[in-house]
Amino acid sequence: MVAGLTISLLVAGCGEMSTLDPRGPAAERIADLWWFMFWTATAIFVGVMGLLLWALFRRRSEQTTAGRSFGGLGLIVGGGIVLPVIVLSVLFGLTLMTLRSLTVDARSTTLTVEVAGQQWWWEVRYPDQQFVTANQIHIPVGQPVRLLLTSRDVVHNFWVPQLHGKMDLLPGQTNVFWLQADEPGVYRGVCAEYCGLQHAKMEFLVVAEPADEFAAWLARQQEHAAAPADRLAQEGQQIFLRSGCVSCHAVRGTNATSTVGPDLTHLASRRTLAAGVLDNNRGNLAGWIMNPQTIKPGNKMPPTQLTAEELLALLAYLEQLK
Ligand code: CUA
Repeated sequence: MVAGLTISLLVAGCGEMSTLDPRGPAAERIADLWWFMFWTATAIFVGVMGLLLWALFRRRSEQTTAGRSFGGLGLIVGGGIVLPVIVLSVLFGLTLMTLRSLTVDARSTTLTVEVAGQQWWWEVRYPDQQFVTANQIHIPVGQPVRLLLTSRDVVHNFWVPQLHGKMDLLPGQTNVFWLQADEPGVYRGVCAEYCGLQHAKMEFLVVAEPADEFAAWLARQQEHAAAPADRLAQEGQQIFLRSGCVSCHAVRGTNATSTVGPDLTHLASRRTLAAGVLDNNRGNLAGWIMNPQTIKPGNKMPPTQLTAEELLALLAYLEQLK
């Protein structure tokens, strides 16, 4: 049973959220430091256990001279003072070097992304390209991207374990951070600072793409929302614009401009809903619109009162916001 538990714990530590499965230079340096500490601690543990066994064995066979002949004061000074000072100094030095290597020169980044944490989702703004999205950050592969992190309410923490360490998002302050992914992929990020009832449901995705795909994504996001093409979607747009949706959400190109909740201009292009909690599909979207409080109790979105026909029209509209 113990073996089974150990294996399941080991497996649980692997995969998409593991700091020991780094996919970017910052996470690699952090993982290198971790492994160095791990193997150093392992060597010391084995050494201490070896000495302990040796002492036990020796006491049995040579009880009369135990403790006298092996080292004595020299062992105490060497093993108790000199060795710890050397080991801790090396670890301290390596930690400082790693910390230093984790700061990136702002001049080497060409892309800036502003991330504002709030209960319980992430506003993602591309200031140079002038658009806003939510809960999904796209970056080009192989390039450091500068992040400006802040909070709209309480302290949150930005953490993508496979790409970098953690950084706080503080109200009234902007923390400069950076991300770089060396391989295309979708990396899961979480809020790593307790921030209230739905802290555990405050996730996001980092999508690292080759340069051409990233450029295409940027161009698409900069566009205004697609005008509804068919009648059902047109009806849905009317329902959207006259319901409570517009008091919190924006859809660029329409009269909906509120910034209280996530921008929905390209909602259908995002992979998740409700800050990483639900896959973005029709059933989840319908459930989220009708009763978000059962999915994420305490969040700011109220339930929406709609008839079945109205809901179908609204879904048709939202689903074509690609
Ligand atoms: Cu935001 Cu925890």
